[in-house]
Amino acid sequence: MKIAIIGAGNMGGATALGLAGALPDARITVTAKHAATLEKFAARGLQTSLDNVSAAADADVVVLGVKPWLAQGVLAELKPALAGKVLVSFVAGVPGAEMLTWLDGSGIAGAYSVIPNLAIEVGESMSFIHELCGTPETLATVRGLFDAVGRTAVVDEKRLNAGMMLASCGTAFALRYVRASAEGGVELGLYPQEALDAALQTVRGAAALLAARGTHPEAEIDRVTTPGGITIKGLNAMEEAGFSAAVIAGLKAWKPKQ
Ligand SMILES: NC(=O)c1ccc[n+]([C@@H]2O[C@H](COP(=O)([O-])OP(=O)(O)OC[C@H]3O[C@@H](n4cnc5c(N)ncnc54)[C@H](OP(=O)(O)O)[C@@H]3O)[C@@H](O)[C@H]2O)c1
Repeated sequence: MKIAIIGAGNMGGATALGLAGALPDARITVTAKHAATLEKFAARGLQTSLDNVSAAADADVVVLGVKPWLAQGVLAELKPALAGKVLVSFVAGVPGAEMLTWLDGSGIAGAYSVIPNLAIEVGESMSFIHELCGTPETLATVRGLFDAVGRTAVVDEKRLNAGMMLASCGTAFALRYVRASAEGGVELGLYPQEALDAALQTVRGAAALLAARGTHPEAEIDRVTTPGGITIKGLNAMEEAGFSAAVIAGLKAWKPKQ
């Protein structure tokens, strides 16, 4: 399969590297505004180009990874090259109906809003997929690509936005927990690197435990909270400081475009 990633920045670049690792037979071309952005991808053996239209024309799947305020202009440029292709848009916050008007007359075979997260680079994304238009075959193509670099969920537009907060912004939220944990560990007397390694392995282990056992987090918490013990004291102190409420408030901070 030939994939063109238009805009190899944080998300487009992570996707290019993740897909290159997972799908060695795919031919991946990345584009950017500046040649310097492309150097690290060329060094990893990917095709690079400053010409969006020829990259898209030569691809089966075109991934749009530019910032939201550039998306309409870049799509207008790409439009003549999109007939019969599958478009994947990473552009967050643009309503699907608006995106479809930008694609009007392009003859696109399928168009999808996809919100992955940065862990796509290491094959561990949680990617939400919303179909703007397409067929069972084009959806299977898109799902197959993102299944190769993590897990996927196909959702309607409302749940795409929820998924973006939970799993895409959620990567930053989870990392902030890791940072806070490590900082607390240093205050308790661990060396900074020791504390960071321990925080990371603890989160990794907790996630692996839930995934392996298929249990609810609270069921596992019950297993480690000895009555009157230090874990329940710690949990209650965190809740008193607003832990769960702060996480939920963070998730609800996004407001849809009016
Ligand atoms: N970051 C995330 O976690 C995340 C998560 C989900 C969705 N998204 C969405 O992904 C999109 C990209 O976000 P980002 O954080 O990856 O942005 P970014 O790091 O700024 O990357 C954007 C890339 O677009 C390139 N670019 C700019 N104008 C271009 C043009 N005319 N033609 C081709 N390439 C062009 C830039 O090239 P240069 O580097 O050469 O300037 C840059 O590499 C956004 O729409 C965002 O909503 C991001």
